[in-house]
Amino acid sequence: MIKKTFSFSSAAVTYLFNADFSYIQELFTKEQTIIVTDENVFGKHKKKFKGFKTIVIKAGEQFKIQSTVDGIIQQLIDLGADRKTTLVGVGGGVVTDITGYVAGVFMRGIKCGFVPTSILAMVDAAIGGKNGIDVGLYKNMVGLIRQPAFILYDFSLLKSLPLEEWVNGFAEVIKHAAIKDFAMFKLLESNKLSTFQKDFTSLAKLVQRNALLKTKVVVEDEFEQGERKLLNFGHTIGHAVENLYNIPHGHAVSIGIGVACKISEQVTGFKQSERVVNVLKQYGLPPQFEFDKEETFRILKSDKKKDSQSINYVLLNKIGNGTVVPLPFNQIEELITAL
Ligand SMILES: NC(=O)c1ccc[n+]([C@@H]2O[C@H](COP(=O)([O-])OP(=O)(O)OC[C@H]3O[C@@H](n4cnc5c(N)ncnc54)[C@H](O)[C@@H]3O)[C@@H](O)[C@H]2O)c1
Ligand SMILES: [Zn+2]
Repeated sequence: MIKKTFSFSSAAVTYLFNADFSYIQELFTKEQTIIVTDENVFGKHKKKFKGFKTIVIKAGEQFKIQSTVDGIIQQLIDLGADRKTTLVGVGGGVVTDITGYVAGVFMRGIKCGFVPTSILAMVDAAIGGKNGIDVGLYKNMVGLIRQPAFILYDFSLLKSLPLEEWVNGFAEVIKHAAIKDFAMFKLLESNKLSTFQKDFTSLAKLVQRNALLKTKVVVEDEFEQGERKLLNFGHTIGHAVENLYNIPHGHAVSIGIGVACKISEQVTGFKQSERVVNVLKQYGLPPQFEFDKEETFRILKSDKKKDSQSINYVLLNKIGNGTVVPLPFNQIEELITAL
């Protein structure tokens, strides 16, 4: 097990890499701990939950909503939870987001920890303290910034992760490499997804590298004044096409990365689009998509504050060197139309 502690403004977070799920008992007693997980993760790993008080929620983004929060709170009361209880979210980003939120509001805040079980949650959602729920069509509309006490990585949990979720998670891995880590980009180029799926030693190293990359960015800019914005690479157009076509998040991010590379060519003189596109394809992600440009632009504009005239667009100078450039809407419209 590799243990690392990072200090955020409000709290320290301990990362436990290559740990075994059962290590939770070393941190807090089973009595003190209440687990929140979803039906898929629970169904695949029943043995691990034995002896723990466990709240099982329905799986999927459509359940990242207030009524699920209410259900969890009711069960916490029924289970006799108090201020000494630690809530542990075991699951993908939906579970970690909702657990962090419930822990933040239950009795005005109890301790929580995460055991991420999807690649996306391991490299992204469990890190940085943002949590919350969706309201109607608005994603992550309600929530808090509050750090968990620990994030425990037990890679054996990934054995049951469906292929499409591996692919989705790798969109964020490629994003990290593109904005910050050229050496990791080369590592991705010289491997393929199936290698990481089989070789858990390489996978553990890769996940840890990504977790530390995101952590470093967040520690330096917890409240998203500058550097943290880089993590939105691929997400500007990504979110718009995700809403419009109801496609998986990783696919949408991949399409967004493809567009951001093209825009970079025009704005920063970026010359390595082909390499980025090839890596996306290599990991089963679509770099291109015939999206309705007018509709996409309309969603993009409606996403932003009414009075803003521009968007902070994340572009690449080079692979491994991302930059945030404020681009006026009319310029973005021209650039997208010309794609
Ligand atoms: N807080 C943040 O900073 C942050 C960052 C990125 C994403 N997010 C949030 O994360 C969510 C997406 O996360 P996700 O992609 O992990 O989604 P998810 O939690 O819905 O998991 C995807 C699917 O995989 C299943 N699953 C997860 N782990 C499994 C395992 N080990 N075995 C079998 N099935 C498993 C889940 O049940 C679900 O069906 C979104 O709600 C997004 O808003 C939050
Ligand atoms: Zn994302």
